[in-house]
Parts: sequence; C-alpha cells; structure tokens
Amino acid sequence: MKLENINLLTPLARKIGGDRVSVPHIMAFLQYNSFRKMSNLARLLWEKKKCRDELVGLPFILFLEVNNICNLHCPFCLTGKGKKGERPKRNMTLREMKGVVEPLAEVLYFIQLYNWGEPLMNKDLFKLAEYAHRKKIFTMVSSNMNFSSSTIPQDIIDSGIDYFIAAIDGFSAETYSKYRRGGDFNKAIKNLQTITELKKKQGSKTPYIEWQYVVFRHNQHEIQAAKMFAEDIGVDYFHPIKGYVEDPEWITTLEEYRSDLGSPESVTDCARPWTHFNVRVDGGVASCCYEYYKKDDFGNVFTTPFNEVWNNDMFKASRQVIAHGVGTSTSKKTICHKCIATGKRPSFEENI
Ligand SMILES: C[S@@+](CC[C@H](N)C(=O)[O-])C[C@H]1O[C@@H](n2cnc3c(N)ncnc32)[C@H](O)[C@@H]1O
Ligand code: SF4
Repeated sequence: MKLENINLLTPLARKIGGDRVSVPHIMAFLQYNSFRKMSNLARLLWEKKKCRDELVGLPFILFLEVNNICNLHCPFCLTGKGKKGERPKRNMTLREMKGVVEPLAEVLYFIQLYNWGEPLMNKDLFKLAEYAHRKKIFTMVSSNMNFSSSTIPQDIIDSGIDYFIAAIDGFSAETYSKYRRGGDFNKAIKNLQTITELKKKQGSKTPYIEWQYVVFRHNQHEIQAAKMFAEDIGVDYFHPIKGYVEDPEWITTLEEYRSDLGSPESVTDCARPWTHFNVRVDGGVASCCYEYYKKDDFGNVFTTPFNEVWNNDMFKASRQVIAHGVGTSTSKKTICHKCIATGKRPSFEENI
C-alpha cells in the first residue's frame, strides 16, 4: 500500500487507537488481520474506555528487546552511554524469544524486534522474524546500519521482516558521526543501498524501508540532500523525526522538529498498559519502552507465566493511575505515576 494512502488513514486510526499510532501499525493492521485479532483489539479498546484495570483482552503489540548491546555510542542513548540499568549485557536466545511470543501469537498484530540495543548483533533475530512471519505477525526492526557481515542484507529480505528502519542521522561523515559515535557513514549508506538494490532485483515486497533521520541542529541543513538520495536509491519512506536531546546546543532551529530539552513528548491519554507488552532482554516486563532500570520492572516473563504478569498488581496500578489520576490510591507505584503527575513521558536522565 502506498504511503499517501496510509497517511490518509492515519487521522482515523489515531482517533481509535491513540496518538502513537504510526505508519507501520496501520500496515500491520491491514496486512495481518483476523477475526480473533479484531475481537481482542475491540475488547481491549472497550476495556480501556471503561477504565478496567483487570483485563480479559491480551496485548496486541509486543516490544521484544532482542539485545541490549551495541557497536556505537550515541551520546543521548542509555546503552550508548554504557548504562546497564542493572541488567546483564546479552542477546536474548531464540528459545526465550519464542517463549514470549508463543502465548500471544494469535492476537499479536505487531512485534518491534529491538529496544535498547542494536538488533542485528543478535544472530537469532532472523530466525525469530521468520517464525513471526509464519505466525502472520508483522515485524519491525531499527538498525544503525554499521554491520560488516555481507550476508545480512539477504537475510533481511529472506526472513520476511516487514518494516526495516535504517537510522542514519546526517548526510556526510562529519555530521553523521557527531551523534552516531563510532559509526561509519559510508558503511551505513553502502549497507542501505545494498538492501534497496537486492530488494529491487529480487522483486521482494518486503521489507518496507524507512530511512529515519533524527533532526539535530548540526544535521538539519542536510535533510533535503538525504531525502533526494533516499528517493534515488529506492527507500520507501524518508522520515525526519524530532530528536530526544540533552544538550541545548543540539536543539534544531527548524520549528517542526523542535523538542524540549530532555523531554521527548507529552502524555495525553496513554493506552500502553492496555495495548503493549514490553519485554526487556532479561525477561523484565513493563508497559512501555521508556522503562529502563530493573527496579522499575512490572514483573518477569522468563520466570513467571504471562497470565500471572499481565494482570499483576503493577500492571493494575499503572492502569488505575492512568484511568483515575495520581490522587487514586494504588497498592504499588509504577513509572506511569510519574508520567501522569508531570504530563510528560520521563526523561531518561533524572537531572535533565
Ligand atoms: C535505542 S535505538 C535501538 C535500535 C538501533 N540501535 C538504532 O539505533 O536504530 C531505538 C530507536 O531510537 C532512535 N533514537 C536514538 N537516539 C535518538 C534520539 N536522540 N532521539 C530520537 N530517537 C533516537 C533510533 O534511531 C532507533 O530508531
Ligand atoms: S545505535 Fe541505537 S542502541 Fe546503539 S547507541 Fe545508538 S541509539 Fe543506542
């Protein structure tokens, strides 16, 4: 489906599913639907509307952190800064990944196969993507594109990954490496080009390729050149986005991409504790990807069955505080309490 048509659907989709609904979510809904998925989705939206804290519905979006290691050192990324968040640095095994997906496979529309790490550094990523593909679940990956293995571009195509984000923030070696520290611009571009060429040559429909460009002051003047190049090589969607910024000098002067220091976005009506299941590399669980430190986990799906986690006291407390406000008394305190109290999603660094 063409991007223009998806963009036409976006306002309606956001009205129903909330302001975080984006292009890949709509694709997942259109491509991998079923009666079972639709009825679960409808039930969950109804449960959210009724402010239910104990749910019959199951999450339909899964964030699976396939690893928390990386080959780069982006200065505003917690992994890039070397923070461990009290977790081991590791790759999730294929067995662990399948163990998380299995109980939810019939209702999942979407799996985001990364969180706080470089997913292509997990060699089992492609096997999991193939497995999800067979189960008719949409998969999305975001990569810094600094891989050296020559087999990866073909693996990306063969595994059936539906949506592939190439995260390249700049259009010259100089601007690129200011944020993507330790990264090689020419390598990232070459890898992107190899994937687009293979896809074209083999007539493959997947992956849909997004070039995601985080806009900072130092790279804002290269957006147009990058966009033109992206169109030339067959990127499906060139996507400049607002950056999460911890240094005032990095804030762009382009109004449409400006964000406040240390605060990526405001929270209006968050639905994530109803719709999302976010699994960290060690099995730690929370309702959203803003959760980083182990002390904030809602539970652990490597040690506890999914059914016992999804409606536990932490999940219920997070739904209660979103539904009824910070004044409500809950048996536990969660990261959601802070979002609701401040009206902003948390800054990753407390001192910002
Ligand atoms: C933590 S990264 C992990 C995936 C992969 N390593 C990558 O960089 O694409 C998750 C997403 O955050 C984006 N990201 C990284 N730093 C960012 C920033 N300062 N502002 C906005 N998005 C950022 C990345 O481009 C990526 O799409
Ligand atoms: S490439 Fe991705 S995971 Fe690695 S440091 Fe940068 S943003 Fe973080």
